[in-house]
Amino acid sequence: MREVLQSTAGSLARVIGLGYVPASHRTVPGIRIFRAFLTRFRQSEMTQGKSRVFSGIQPSGDLHIGNYLGAIKNWVALTETYDCIYCIVDLHAVTIPYQPDELQARIQELAIGVLASGLDPERCTLFVQSAVPEHAELQWLLNTVTPLGELSRMTQFKDKSGRVDTINAGLLNYPVLQAADILLYLADRVPVGEDQAQHLELTREIARRWNGRFGEYFPEPQALIGGGKRILGLDGASKMSKSQNNVIPLLADEQELWSVIRTAVTDPARVRRDDPGNPDVCNVFSLHGFFTSEEERAEIDGLCRTAGIGCVDCKKRLTANMAAELAPIQARAAELRAHPDRVGEILREGARRARAIASVTLGNVYERMGLERHES
Ligand code: TYM
Repeated sequence: MREVLQSTAGSLARVIGLGYVPASHRTVPGIRIFRAFLTRFRQSEMTQGKSRVFSGIQPSGDLHIGNYLGAIKNWVALTETYDCIYCIVDLHAVTIPYQPDELQARIQELAIGVLASGLDPERCTLFVQSAVPEHAELQWLLNTVTPLGELSRMTQFKDKSGRVDTINAGLLNYPVLQAADILLYLADRVPVGEDQAQHLELTREIARRWNGRFGEYFPEPQALIGGGKRILGLDGASKMSKSQNNVIPLLADEQELWSVIRTAVTDPARVRRDDPGNPDVCNVFSLHGFFTSEEERAEIDGLCRTAGIGCVDCKKRLTANMAAELAPIQARAAELRAHPDRVGEILREGARRARAIASVTLGNVYERMGLERHES
C-alpha cells in the first residue's frame, strides 16, 4: 500500500509539473506534494510566469568598462524579457582588505552607477545583499553539501589568496555565498562575465548535491555570458580589473577617459608611427568594437594596416566615441547623486521585494532539511 501511495504521489508530482520527487519526499503524499506545488505556484506567481534572472556585483572599486560591457549592459537588456533581481554583494566585498568607513559610500556609488547605466527599478529588483539576511543563512546550509576540494580548486580563490598574507575562510567560502544568492531566488539564468563561469558551475553542482540529498527543489542555473565576456585592461593582456590597476572607469568624462586610454597598450609590433599595425591583436581596436560604428571601424582597420593613422589617433577616436556613449550615464549619475534619498528608497524597496521571495525559499529549505524556522 505504502509503495502504491508513493508511486501515485510521484506520478501526481510529475503531472502538476514538479518533475521528479524522490521517494523519501512522498511519504505523506498529499501534504508534501501540495506544499511543493504551492511553492512553485507562489514562485511562478511572483515571476509572472517569466524565467528569473539573478546577478550580483561587488562594491569593491569604481565601476569600470569591464563591468559595464561584461555584465551591466546585459542586466539592463534582460529586464525587457525576464524577472530580474540584481544585488550589490557587500558581504562578498568584505572577504578582501577594505576600509569599513568607506563601504557605505561605495555601495551608494555603485547603486548610482548601475541605475545611471539604464537599470529601471520599476522593471527589476535592486538591493543590497546584507539587507536580506537569508543570503548568509542559506549559505551556511549550503556549506553542508559543498565539497571542500571544489572550493580550494576555484581559480579566483587561488588568485585572491595569492595576494593576501592570511587567507581567511570567507575567501574560500565565497562561491558558496554566491550559490546562495542565486538559489535563494530559484533563478535559472545568471548574466555574468566569463570570469564567473567556474563559480556558476559550482553553483550547479551545489544545487545538484542539495537536491540529491533533500529532494528536487533548486533549478540548476545557466550562466548568460554576453558579448563583452572578457574585457582586457589597459595592459592589453590581463582581464580589466581594479586589482590589476588596469581599468577604464565608467563614470569618467572625456578628459579623464583620455588620460587613461592614452596609456593603453596597442599592437606591440607597431613601434614607430610609420610601422603598419595589426588591429587583430590590438586591444584598443577590440574596444572600438563596442563603441564605434561598423563603418568607422572598417576605416580605422584599413588605416592602421597601412600606417595611415597612428595609435594616438586611433585612441583619440575611441575616447571620443566612448565619451559620447557614457555622457548620458554620467549625467544621470550626477542627477542621482543630488538625490541620495531616492537611491536609498530604491534599495529599501528592492530589499523588501527580495526578502519576500527569500523567506519563502528559506522556509522550504529549512523544512526539507528537518529544521524548524523560528520567527524573529
Ligand atoms: P564582480 O563584482 O567582480 O564583477 C561584476 C560583473 O562584472 C563582470 N566583469 C567583467 N566582465 C568582462 N570583462 C571584465 N574585465 C570584467 N570584470 C568584471 C563579472 O563577470 C561580473 O559579472 N562574484 C561576483 C559577484 C557575485 C555574483 C553573485 C554574480 C556575487 N554573487 C551571484 C552573479 C550571481 C563578482 O565578484 O563580480
